[in-house]
Amino acid sequence: MKQTEAIAPSQEWRVADIKSDFEGGFIDRVSKEWALATAGNASDYNAMTISWGLIGHLWEKPVAVCFVRPQRHTRIFTDKSAFFTLTFFGKDKKSKVHKIFGNESGKDIDKAAKAGVTPIIFDEGAIGFEEAKETIVCKKIYFDDFNPKNFLDSSIAALYTDDYHRFYIGEIVKFYKKK
Ligand SMILES: Cc1cc2nc3c(=O)[nH]c(=O)nc-3n(C[C@H](O)[C@H](O)[C@H](O)COP(=O)(O)O)c2cc1C
Repeated sequence: MKQTEAIAPSQEWRVADIKSDFEGGFIDRVSKEWALATAGNASDYNAMTISWGLIGHLWEKPVAVCFVRPQRHTRIFTDKSAFFTLTFFGKDKKSKVHKIFGNESGKDIDKAAKAGVTPIIFDEGAIGFEEAKETIVCKKIYFDDFNPKNFLDSSIAALYTDDYHRFYIGEIVKFYKKK
């Protein structure tokens, strides 16, 4: 389904430092507040809710990692795009945004229109949402699929049928935050 075209971000957004300006702790934020993983361009993109994600230091770069199952419509976009973004809305917007982005598919509906949010395009050509608080822009530098032979804890296999996530490691190239 065609998604609402992304427009320029408002003046409310500033470039911030991922090391010092991402407040609240990443594990807590991603697991409790949730986020959107988004990839694509202004007129052809998709976003979905995530509650798993990583931030860290790898190959001498600040990196973020997201995990996308094969059946997600978003997967087409994380596969073909040079960038992905992780967007945080804050707890107050959680139910409204993630009810749609975490349960419905961009295959079927215009998620932004239904959730009442405005897609925006940052300088890198990466997509965020105006109503959000923070967006981490990641340039894809590696991907792989989980190999069930390497699961060392039986609780992990219980999370799958055969739809193992593809994970994307992205170099964090910009962190945008609302003023
Ligand atoms: C709290 C929450 C966390 C989720 N985390 C992930 C995730 O990390 N990876 C994933 O592939 N799907 C995850 N999902 C499922 C997708 O968000 C959901 O299937 C979505 O509707 C996919 O949309 P799409 O088909 O437009 O890509 C999560 C859903 C919820 C509600």
